[in-house]
Amino acid sequence: MSATPAKVWDLPVRLFHWALVILCGFSWWSAEEGGLTLQYHMWAGYSILALVIFRVMWGFAGSASARFASFLHGPARVMAAVRELLTPAPMQVAGHNPLGGWMVAVMLVCLLVQTGSGLFANDDILNEGPLYKYAGKALSDTLTSLHHLNFNVLLGLVVLHVLAIVWHRVRKGERLTAAMVHGRKPWADGQPRLAPAWRALPWLAASAGLVMLIVNL
Ligand code: HEM
Ligand code: HEM
Repeated sequence: MSATPAKVWDLPVRLFHWALVILCGFSWWSAEEGGLTLQYHMWAGYSILALVIFRVMWGFAGSASARFASFLHGPARVMAAVRELLTPAPMQVAGHNPLGGWMVAVMLVCLLVQTGSGLFANDDILNEGPLYKYAGKALSDTLTSLHHLNFNVLLGLVVLHVLAIVWHRVRKGERLTAAMVHGRKPWADGQPRLAPAWRALPWLAASAGLVMLIVNL
């Protein structure tokens, strides 16, 4: 264990994560309500899209632990991580482990498919996504089915994600959820270079602007 607990998650990553959790929960609830509530569903969806685009940008321009290059590795390192996951010792990586890293990428892609298909979706009655007009009814219906189907994939991934976190707690004694709240992993080896939080603002503004452009196409 290092003398000063390593701070591994910067504020933008932590805010991104918990805002995402809240907005996904709200999206689910508002989609089930249907009717006029779908308007709020779409607003939550635009916010999720902006957050995910921001996270992709931050994956290239953000803190060391947030960068894709720091956590997306080839099969040999992934297999080594799998073997390490089975042992009781905490994993000392100051960021995502090589298996968890791919899970992050898969979840981000799944969220992009969910929001992307939502933009073209329709509910046959009152509501349609802002890009419905470019798709026409037949293609929109197909993308609406994808929106439904992919939601189940997303749910499955989230269940797996939470089970993995429980595994880390029970088998390896790692408190990952707390780390995603305060940013620190006392058991991690080394301190990643963290970017100041203000550096995220222009990227967040750019992604929000991009989503506004898409929605008003
Ligand atoms: C750009 C963002 C989004 C837009 C524009 C959008 C739009 C829509 C529309 C128009 C429907 C109605 C389709 C129907 O009733 O068959 C719908 C349904 C649904 N959406 Fe979204 N959505 C977005 C993002 C999301 C996200 C992020 C989630 C989940 C995290 C989600 C989950 C669902 C679910 C589960 C339904 C099906 C509700 C049901 O019929 O039971 N959507 N969405
Ligand atoms: C809608 C549900 C959820 C989604 C879509 C989601 C998605 C994500 C994503 C994309 C990341 C990567 C963060 C980044 O690098 O920017 C992540 C990490 C993480 N999430 Fe979630 N998450 C969800 C729910 C939860 C819940 C309920 C918990 C806690 C019980 C949780 C705990 C964590 C932790 C601890 C990490 C960091 C993992 C590590 O240390 O490598 N997540 N999640």
